Amino acid sequence: MEIRFLVLITSILVIIFSSSGYAYDPVDPYGNITIRWDVVRDVGYGKQFVKVWMINNQLYRHIELPGWKVSWVWVGDEVIWEIQGAEATEQGNCSGAFKHLLPHSCEKQPVIVDLLPGAPFSKQTLDCCKGGLLSSIIQADTQTSYNNNIAAFLMLIGTINASNAPPQVPHNFSLGISGYTCSDPVLVQPTKSFEDQGRRRTQAIATYNVTCSYSQFRAAAAPTCCVSMSAFYSKTIVPCSQCSCACQLPQNGSSCLRPADLPPPLQVEANEEPRPVLQCSHHMCPIQVHWHVKQSYKQYCRVKITLSNFNYVKNYSEWNLVVLHPNLQNLTQVFSFNYRPLNQYGNTNDTGMFYGIEHYNDILLQAGEKGYVQTEMLLYKDPKDFTFREGWAFPRKISFNGQDCVLPPPDVYPRLPNSSHFSALLSTFSMFLSFLLFLLII
Ligand SMILES: *[C@@H]1O[C@H](CO)[C@@H](O)[C@H](O)[C@H]1NC(C)=O
Ligand SMILES: *[C@@H]1O[C@H](CO)[C@@H](O)[C@H](O)[C@H]1NC(C)=O
Ligand SMILES: *[C@@H]1O[C@H](CO)[C@@H](O)[C@H](O)[C@H]1NC(C)=O
Ligand SMILES: *[C@@H]1O[C@H](CO)[C@@H](O)[C@H](O)[C@H]1NC(C)=O
Ligand SMILES: *[C@@H]1O[C@H](CO)[C@@H](O)[C@H](O)[C@H]1NC(C)=O
Ligand SMILES: *[C@@H]1O[C@H](CO)[C@@H](O)[C@H](O)[C@H]1NC(C)=O
Ligand SMILES: *[C@@H]1O[C@H](CO)[C@@H](O)[C@H](O)[C@H]1NC(C)=O
Ligand SMILES: *[C@@H]1O[C@H](CO)[C@@H](O)[C@H](O)[C@H]1NC(C)=O
Ligand SMILES: *[C@@H]1O[C@H](CO)[C@@H](O)[C@H](O)[C@H]1NC(C)=O
Repeated sequence: MEIRFLVLITSILVIIFSSSGYAYDPVDPYGNITIRWDVVRDVGYGKQFVKVWMINNQLYRHIELPGWKVSWVWVGDEVIWEIQGAEATEQGNCSGAFKHLLPHSCEKQPVIVDLLPGAPFSKQTLDCCKGGLLSSIIQADTQTSYNNNIAAFLMLIGTINASNAPPQVPHNFSLGISGYTCSDPVLVQPTKSFEDQGRRRTQAIATYNVTCSYSQFRAAAAPTCCVSMSAFYSKTIVPCSQCSCACQLPQNGSSCLRPADLPPPLQVEANEEPRPVLQCSHHMCPIQVHWHVKQSYKQYCRVKITLSNFNYVKNYSEWNLVVLHPNLQNLTQVFSFNYRPLNQYGNTNDTGMFYGIEHYNDILLQAGEKGYVQTEMLLYKDPKDFTFREGWAFPRKISFNGQDCVLPPPDVYPRLPNSSHFSALLSTFSMFLSFLLFLLII
């Protein structure tokens, strides 16, 4: 069967990619988050003004609550005297060297968090105060406010022993988000910025890039999302696979909530994500994606996608869904979601990103509230490759917020009342091919 064959090929490709040990994302190969360290001005006495930028260069991955927590390790005895547009979580031990003016943070490894929206104006900078959120490039592109994929803060740093030695660029940068690792700082062309409505251009004294890249292997989290399917031509609804994300443990009911149970009061710890509190289900995933092939017209096929949130203590802001489906290149219309093809780099055109419309359905609310969002779309039925047989109408791959969703095994996909001869023939053929491939590999 075509699907099994496809699965075989895909798994071979996955093995090849994963055995290289390198997290290559074919959908977004150049995606990264850059931390840019601009030495803006040297004020002498071992003090410098530094502007730090966080720039999300990823097409579809974003940073959600509780937001980024950037940290680094100072090389010498540097401290942060003042900061604007962000704050250090710990002041640390500033006794010892200072009598009157206390620095903002004396930590050897300071952790900096963004300010919340609506912070006092005197503490703001131009691109600050988003609570640590960084939109993806594609989502920032359709938002009404600018630069939501960028954050910036300004610091006055200095060495304690004011021997006039200027501070050094720190090392061991981290975003404080699992899955990302950051490079060492690299000296690059200095940042130039405009002043006076673009009439004057200023230039940093020195600029360093730190590149932070994401790897799903490194994140190594349990799945958080699963896919269920149904079709107008089949009575069976294919549910999410049992235990897709975890197994419900009946012996201790506290691991999930039944609909009659009251969700617990939300306990928010600053800068920490609350532990998920899930509605009980056989899949135990916080997110379920349901793919329903709703109707077939002469030339088009109508598909309905429903995203449901099973977590009582999390709203997913700026959620996104990346879908691989052979007919996305013939996507004709999408209702009530935004859509962008993600096919810049290959010659295939079968992957795209769905995301909510700002102020309408870009937040997937917690379970118990209106915890779902839906869309419908029309796919053009290309006579060359269109068939309802063997689950063609269903996606090959789905990820929610950049994390792969667990799909049901292909042999349980909803299928047409069968014409067994043809599929039996195909099945034999694909087994033969798999065998050939197997021989080739060994
Ligand atoms: C990070 O992203 C920027 C912008 O897309 C790109 O110029 C740079 O080459 C990327 N860096 C790496 C190491 O991929
Ligand atoms: C440094 O980072 C910026 C922002 O991501 C990027 O545009 C630039 O290409 C990077 N420079 C180098 C040399 O990687
Ligand atoms: C704080 O730093 C000073 C000077 O380095 C040191 O004498 C003191 O013991 C430190 N206090 C604590 C609580 O670590
Ligand atoms: C900094 O990173 C290096 C490796 O890159 C590691 O050996 C070292 O322990 C780190 N230092 C701190 C203070 O985390
Ligand atoms: C629930 O079950 C897990 C695994 O069996 C166990 O580690 C945990 O202590 C249990 N929790 C309660 C509240 O019983
Ligand atoms: C989610 O959003 C709703 C409506 O805005 C709000 O009432 C609720 O407290 C939010 N939940 C969390 C966990 O932030
Ligand atoms: C991919 O599809 C989009 C529209 O869905 C189209 O604009 C683009 O030209 C296609 N690219 C290729 C390489 O076919
Ligand atoms: C559907 O995609 C195929 C293959 O790229 C293309 O030849 C055909 O013209 C497309 N049809 C429509 C209606 O876009
Ligand atoms: C297809 O037909 C065969 C025999 O005709 C039957 O055994 C099988 O259960 C059928 N499959 C489905 C999905 O109806």
